[in-house]
Amino acid sequence: MGHIPENIIDDILNRVDIVEVISDYIPLKRAGRNFRALCPFHHEKSPSFMVSPDRQIYHCFGCGAGGNVFGFLIQYERLEFREAVEALAKKAGVAIPQQFRRDSPEAGVVSALHAVNELAAKFYENILGSPKGTAAREYLFTRGLTEDSIRSFRIGFAADAWNALITHLRNKNISLAVLEKAGLILSREGGGGYYDRFRNRIIIPVFDIKSKIIAFGARVMPGTGDRNPAKYVNSPETPVYVKRNCLYGLHLAKDAIRDLDFVIVVEGYLDFIIPCQHGVRNIVASSGTSLTQEQARIIKRFTHNVVVVYDGDSAGQMAAVRSLDIFVEEGMQVKVASLPEGYDPDSFVREKGIEAFKILISRAATLFDYKLAILESRFSSRSIEDKARISSEMLGTIGKFSNSILKSEYLKKLGDSLGIDVDSLHAELKKIKGDRPYAEVQPVPAKARAVNPTEQLLMKLMLEESSLVDGIRRRIEPSDFQDERISRIVTALFDFLDHGREVEPSILINHFGDTEIAGLICESAFTHDTEQGNKKEIVDDCIRRLKSKKKDSRKRFLHEEIKNAQKSGNEEKLHQLMREFHALIKEGVV
Ligand code: CTP
Ligand code: MN
Repeated sequence: MGHIPENIIDDILNRVDIVEVISDYIPLKRAGRNFRALCPFHHEKSPSFMVSPDRQIYHCFGCGAGGNVFGFLIQYERLEFREAVEALAKKAGVAIPQQFRRDSPEAGVVSALHAVNELAAKFYENILGSPKGTAAREYLFTRGLTEDSIRSFRIGFAADAWNALITHLRNKNISLAVLEKAGLILSREGGGGYYDRFRNRIIIPVFDIKSKIIAFGARVMPGTGDRNPAKYVNSPETPVYVKRNCLYGLHLAKDAIRDLDFVIVVEGYLDFIIPCQHGVRNIVASSGTSLTQEQARIIKRFTHNVVVVYDGDSAGQMAAVRSLDIFVEEGMQVKVASLPEGYDPDSFVREKGIEAFKILISRAATLFDYKLAILESRFSSRSIEDKARISSEMLGTIGKFSNSILKSEYLKKLGDSLGIDVDSLHAELKKIKGDRPYAEVQPVPAKARAVNPTEQLLMKLMLEESSLVDGIRRRIEPSDFQDERISRIVTALFDFLDHGREVEPSILINHFGDTEIAGLICESAFTHDTEQGNKKEIVDDCIRRLKSKKKDSRKRFLHEEIKNAQKSGNEEKLHQLMREFHALIKEGVV
C-alpha cells in the first residue's frame, strides 16, 4: 500500500460536511455562524464544543480538543487516520485507487465476517420461527420475552444437528475458511471435516456499536444440561470479535446513555433484554463478571456515570467489586445497586416490576459505601486484624482516585467508620502508592499548553487571509515565533503557498499527525475575532510586538552572557557582547 495522496484527502475534505458527519454522533444546535454541543470528549454541563461549517473544523473551549472531520472520527470512533479517511471516502463517494488501498486483507475479512454472521443470524432466526424452534420459542416466552424483542434482538435457535449451518451456508457459496474464521464451525480432530459450533441452543447475536453482528452467545436449552454442560457457548475471538471491547446492547443504548448521562451495567444477556423490553434503554451487559479497562473507556465516551447492578448472592462478589476500580481509575463515578438475594436483574424486573428496578437503581450506593458495607459484614468482629483487612482493601480503591479532594474525604470517612486515625491511613496509602497500574490516558489531548496570544493572532490572520502573507513574510520568518508549534504551523503554511495550495485550516491540519497542533489551529480559528477593516494594522502591531519580544529575550540573553564574560575575564568576548547590546538598545522601537 502507500500513503493515500494528499489530493485525494483534500478531495474528500471538500466533499463531506463536518456538520453533517458530527450530527450523526451528537446533537448540534445552531449558534450564529457555528454549531454548538456538549463536548463528547469531556464531561460538561454547558456546551463549549463548537463546529464551524465555514472552516470545517471543531474546537472545544473546555478541553481544547479540536480538528477537522478526520480528527473527529479519530477521537470519537478511535479510528486510525487511514481508517477515518477510508470511512469518509466511502461517504463522499471518493474512490481510493487500488494501489493506495490497504494490501492487508483486513478490511475485506471484516466485511466478509459481518456478512457471514448476518447470514447465520438470519438462518437461526428462521429456525426459531419454524416447527424445529417451537420448544425454544416456548421457553423464551416463559422467560418473559415478547415476540417484539425476539425480533428486535434477533434471537434465533440452532437445531440439534451437526451440520445444519454448514450445509445451509455452503449452498450459498460461503467458504469453509470464512465460516471457521467467524467461529461458526469447528474442524473435527484428525481432519474429518467440520461441524457446527452451536447446536440445540438459543442463539443471541452480539452486535457492535454500528449494529453489525460480530459474535453469538448460545444458551443451552433447559433440561439438556447433562449433554451440554456449559450454560453458554460463545463465539471465539475473531478479527471482528474482541471480547474485552464488547458491551452487549451498546448499539441500542448509546443515545439513551448520553441523554440520561448514566449507564446501567448488568452481567447477562437476559439481564439486559428484560429491562430493555420494559423501556429501560440506558443499559448494557458486560457478558461476564469482570469488567475490562477497554469496556470502561468505551462507556466513558458516552457518560462518566455508571450504576452496576449485582446479583445479591453473586459468587466471587469481592472479585467483582474489585473490578469496579477500573471505573475509578478512568475518573468515572461508579455506584452499585444490589439486588435482594436470589435475584438477578432479569428475575427482579419480572417479579417486582420495572418501577421497583428503577427505584433500586436510583438508590444505588457509591462504590466506596458498597464495598465498605460488604467488608464490614464479612469481617464483623471489629478485631484489629479485621480492621486492618478492611482498611487495606478500601485503600486499594481510594488510592485509585486521582482527585486528591475525593481521596482525602474518603480517607476521613474510612477513618471515622473504623475508628482509625486518618494519619495512619494516610501512611498506609502512601505505602501502596504506585499501585495505579497505568497512567490516566485521556482519549483527548490535555488542553494544549498556553500559547502567546500575539503569535497566535498573527498565525490566525495568515491562515485566514492569504493576501496578507506575502507582506508578513517579508518582515518575519518562522523562527521569529518563540512557540515551536506555531513556528511549525507557519513553516507549513509558507510551504503550502509556495506550492500553490489553498490554505484551509481543515486541510493544513492533515499536514501534522499531531493533535496538539490541530487543537491550536482550531482554537485560533475560533478565537481572536478581528474586524475586517483593520487587519493590516493588527498585523503591524503583532509584528512590532513579536520583534520587540524577540529583542527583549536577546537582551536578556546578552545580559547574562556579559555577566559571565565579566566573571571569567574574557575581555574580547565582553567587548563584542557589549557592542551588540548597545546596538540593540539604540535601535529603539521597530
Ligand atoms: N456467561 C458465559 N458463559 C457461561 C456462563 C455465563 O459467557 N458459561 C456469560 C453470559 O454472557 C451470561 C453472563 O455471563 O449472560 C451471565 O451469566 P449468568 O448470570 O449465569 O447467565 P444469565 O444471562 O443470567 O442466563 P440465564 O438467566 O438464562 O440463566
Ligand atoms: Mn439470569
